[in-house]
Amino acid sequence: MSGVFNPAGSGAASTALVTWVLIGLGGTVYVLVVLVMVGALRRRRLGPHSNPGSNQDRGAERLFILGGGIALPAVVLLAVAVVNVWGMVVQPQGGEFDIEVIGHQYWWEIRYPDHGVVTANEFHIPVGRRVRLLLRSEDVIHSFWVPELAGKRDLVPGRVNTLTIEAQEPGTYRGQCAEFCGIQHANMALLVTAESPESFAAWVEDQAAPAAPPTTASEMAGSATFETVGCGACHTIRGTGADGEAGPDLTHFAQRRTIGAGAAPNDRGHLGGWVVDAQSLKPGNLMPPVPVPAEELTDLLDYLESLE
Ligand code: CUA
Repeated sequence: MSGVFNPAGSGAASTALVTWVLIGLGGTVYVLVVLVMVGALRRRRLGPHSNPGSNQDRGAERLFILGGGIALPAVVLLAVAVVNVWGMVVQPQGGEFDIEVIGHQYWWEIRYPDHGVVTANEFHIPVGRRVRLLLRSEDVIHSFWVPELAGKRDLVPGRVNTLTIEAQEPGTYRGQCAEFCGIQHANMALLVTAESPESFAAWVEDQAAPAAPPTTASEMAGSATFETVGCGACHTIRGTGADGEAGPDLTHFAQRRTIGAGAAPNDRGHLGGWVVDAQSLKPGNLMPPVPVPAEELTDLLDYLESLE
């Protein structure tokens, strides 16, 4: 099992426990109701044992209403309330550092203000450490949800919400936008990788560095194409003249596993299709078709794939 029932973070662990308790309570009530119903049907089939309207019958009815209609629901609802409040109170708070998560139609901008890192859709955290996410939106309401790590939290335009996440086991956890935000809501995925503090420090250092300059002839030609077709108007590649902010930062693009926030794997075929006509892979996203001359496309792909 994965997702909510396979928690790997402290926030998700309490949520999973709450879920199991609620399933248990709901299941118990269901079984009780079915038993009472079956009992009533059997009693009816066996024929009348008592006179309807007798004192004895009315006493039993009153007891049934008080017990089954008031006392039992009160106990069950109180238990549900206690369990839910406990689930909220024990959620982890604060964090060793902040990560800004900014929702866009339809991708996640990720910033580490203390570390000088800007990336998109995929980010790393140190395992066993609390990290505070600052969640906001550039357009409509989105919702950040990595089921194995923590509960959902909305990204609302005009305000900053916080969510503390903590992975207790190393691994890569898939997340998903959990608030309908438009036609490509379903293709708004993210990946959170939890790794040892040492690996995390190395990752951060690498991500904070400017892009690797092109080395081969074709990478250099691709870098020139990147400039001439105007990719830099929307995308930033740190260390070059490209400083657009409408789309994801591509400084270390080649490290990403997917393109289009999980819409397609980051391989050469999909990348070529994405660059030339992103609308066919993810209709409704903001990237327009790019008129790259056919003979320059392989150079451009070589360049993008060199952005480790
Ligand atoms: Cu963003 Cu749904």
